[in-house]
Amino acid sequence: MRTQVGIVGAGPAGLFLAHLLRRAGVDCVILESRSRDYIEKRVRAGVLEQTTVNLMHEVGAGERLKREGMPDPLLDIRFAGGIIHIDLKELTPGKIVTVYGQQEVVKDLIASWVKGGGSIEFEAEALGLDGLNSERPNIRYRKNGREDTIECDFIAGCDGFHGVSRPAIPESVLSIYDRIFPFGWLGIISESTPFPEMTYANHERGFALASRRGPHIARLYVQCAADEDLNLWPDARIWDELHKRLGGARKLTEGKMVQKGITPMRSFVVEPMQHGRLFLAGDSAHIVPPTGAKGLNLAAADVWVLARAFDEFFRTGSRKRLERYSEVCLKRVWKAVRYSSYLTSLLHRFEQHTPFERQLQHTELEYLLNSKAARTTVAENYVGLPFVDD
Ligand code: FAD
Ligand code: DHB
Repeated sequence: MRTQVGIVGAGPAGLFLAHLLRRAGVDCVILESRSRDYIEKRVRAGVLEQTTVNLMHEVGAGERLKREGMPDPLLDIRFAGGIIHIDLKELTPGKIVTVYGQQEVVKDLIASWVKGGGSIEFEAEALGLDGLNSERPNIRYRKNGREDTIECDFIAGCDGFHGVSRPAIPESVLSIYDRIFPFGWLGIISESTPFPEMTYANHERGFALASRRGPHIARLYVQCAADEDLNLWPDARIWDELHKRLGGARKLTEGKMVQKGITPMRSFVVEPMQHGRLFLAGDSAHIVPPTGAKGLNLAAADVWVLARAFDEFFRTGSRKRLERYSEVCLKRVWKAVRYSSYLTSLLHRFEQHTPFERQLQHTELEYLLNSKAARTTVAENYVGLPFVDD
């Protein structure tokens, strides 16, 4: 098989890229190690920045999002000193986020990719990438027990944090920036009426978050240990913690838990995001703790830059944008890393914090409560910084 751009991974990064390339008339093939059913049910992020919503519409996959996506013009942060209302629309001004599950984004992108005749191989696992410094790099993969290769002009490594693309780059040319937070999130989906506002809580027992997936579906998270054992969290214990950390003015409604999972908290950035004819995008190049809801949105921003660079190359032969891909993306990536770290540090309980550090955290929250300038900074980053490629 031969294609212009071989895409490894059908997460948000790979799927958005495929759509953008098709629009630009560039031929591509997507290889995905999991089944279609599995990736369409994998529960992850849920907050879309306006630029990501716009991208869904631009690639013609935004119809259901328009109907079912839940526009979110504000968020609340609760702490011992009160409730900080961050009115995104007023502070940004006019910008909001939209709550829509990542698996719905993936479902919609796959459906319109397939409908338009796009090429995607499910249960096709990339085993390794070869010839990255040659004109004809290729992807070795296995499907139905048979090994094969795809010859490409370029390879897009969109295979997430545990994929094969990043390890295909020699360690000697990479710089790695890594910070592991000493806790995780236990996330659930519950068939119950959610809070109307996105609500983050800094509580002495630990962080909690109340989001939603529909008028009768709540998405809730509690801070837990980094290496938490889910068996130690029967439903009653999860509800008890959620009530304690989120309770107060509003009563949290309980319902049937239909999904439970643990997310580790880590910031990780690799530099550069490219090597020879391989370009990394999304989680394969960087991950952020989910507190700022940035992971999926960063993946979309990367491939927007990458698609423009491929488009320029195939139209004009110029490598200018391709050469600057990593540099351009990393500027925006680091801003999201900074913001995600800030919110994570602000909202979680750190066992190792001294009384001094606890006071600082509390004072920062008091400052947000009383300063419009501070709330504006949070809002501006939450709704998302603009895409830039120059
Ligand atoms: P992925 O979505 O990981 O997609 C990569 C794809 O590549 C996958 O489909 C994978 O199956 C495939 N793949 C891997 N290896 C191979 C291979 N060898 N061959 C072929 N295919 C391969 N972000 C938030 O903002 N908020 C959240 O609440 C949140 N929760 C998360 C929970 C979990 C458990 C995880 C893992 C992430 C979470 N994130 C969250 C982050 C967000 O989901 C990611 O940033 C986003 O999925 C990145 O998209 P991506 O396309 O780069 O990678
Ligand atoms: C959701 C996830 C996040 O990481 C976040 O910061 C807010 C909401 C969610 O799953 O809805």
